[in-house]
Amino acid sequence: MKLFLAPMEGVLDHPMREILSDLGGFDSCVSEFIRVTDQLLPPKVFYRLCPELKQGGKTQNGMPVIVQLLGSDPNILAANAARACDLGALGIDLNFGCPAKTVNRHGGGAALLTNPEVLHTIVANVRAAVPTNIPVTAKMRLGFEDKSLAIENACAIEAAGAANITVHARTKVEGYAPPAHWHWIAKINQQVSIPVIANGEIWNLSDYHRCREISQCQDVMIGRGAIRTPDIGLQIKAANQGLTYNSLQWADICQLVLDFYRSIAHIPPAFAGSRLKQWIGLLSHGYPEARSLFDRIKRLRDIEQIVNEVNYNLAIFKK
Ligand SMILES: Cc1cc2nc3c(=O)[nH]c(=O)nc-3n(C[C@H](O)[C@H](O)[C@H](O)COP(=O)(O)O)c2cc1C
Repeated sequence: MKLFLAPMEGVLDHPMREILSDLGGFDSCVSEFIRVTDQLLPPKVFYRLCPELKQGGKTQNGMPVIVQLLGSDPNILAANAARACDLGALGIDLNFGCPAKTVNRHGGGAALLTNPEVLHTIVANVRAAVPTNIPVTAKMRLGFEDKSLAIENACAIEAAGAANITVHARTKVEGYAPPAHWHWIAKINQQVSIPVIANGEIWNLSDYHRCREISQCQDVMIGRGAIRTPDIGLQIKAANQGLTYNSLQWADICQLVLDFYRSIAHIPPAFAGSRLKQWIGLLSHGYPEARSLFDRIKRLRDIEQIVNEVNYNLAIFKK
């Protein structure tokens, strides 16, 4: 029963992966996508998006970070996958779900779901280009406009040698609109023999249990739920082991936000401020206290003032 932390461009970057990995609960995660167009990317691009490559492909406390590639050219993807492995990637994940218009216009991301043969060629080429001990995996949506090719796509990915498939249970057209169609993951799961990882709309323990039951998957991947409820992984792990777990309180979350700030304090203050506002805004879905903090900071421009507000919250809510 593995728990994967989802790739989230601009949100689940290296500092955030460190924070969530330190907190615990997740077994593995996937990097933000590395966009591959028509060239072999220089090492600095891989290191920028996945600095963990410099420390054996893992976070400081040992959580593996799989490198995700996004593109449509099988040969160029294969060459970049081989490079990522040379730089220390512990696994290569292929993005077949990105809904961005620019990416789809160039035939990448979810646009590939209209053509199972191309999916097969991409996975097969990447598989052939990387060392046999390095797993190649794929993350797909249920389709582009409709779900008619969902099973065919998953079978093509399996036949080409993927070690597992994560299924985000929506089409590209469905975007992020609830619900996630977990029963479709079960249909796929019945047709392939590699592990299928269920993804989409897991916000709490009860969603986790329902998703597993409906999708018939052992393993799940969580994205936004881990940002809104950072200890969701710990809650799930404790429940699976029959242990009692005391969820993090708002003061603990404020401490995490301050730790996060410490790890991004070197970036330009305006960016650091936006990242704090972004996270506190997302936290406000799970913690009512975050809503009033967000209202106080949303118009602040001075990073010192934003951090002071978080410190003030920590002081008043700490028991
Ligand atoms: C802001 C944002 C960035 C994302 N970036 C990526 C990405 O880089 N690669 C990818 O495969 N999926 C990406 N996704 C999709 C997520 O990995 C995940 O499939 C989706 O959010 C559904 O899972 P969730 O309901 O647990 O968040 C992104 C989603 C969001 C909201």
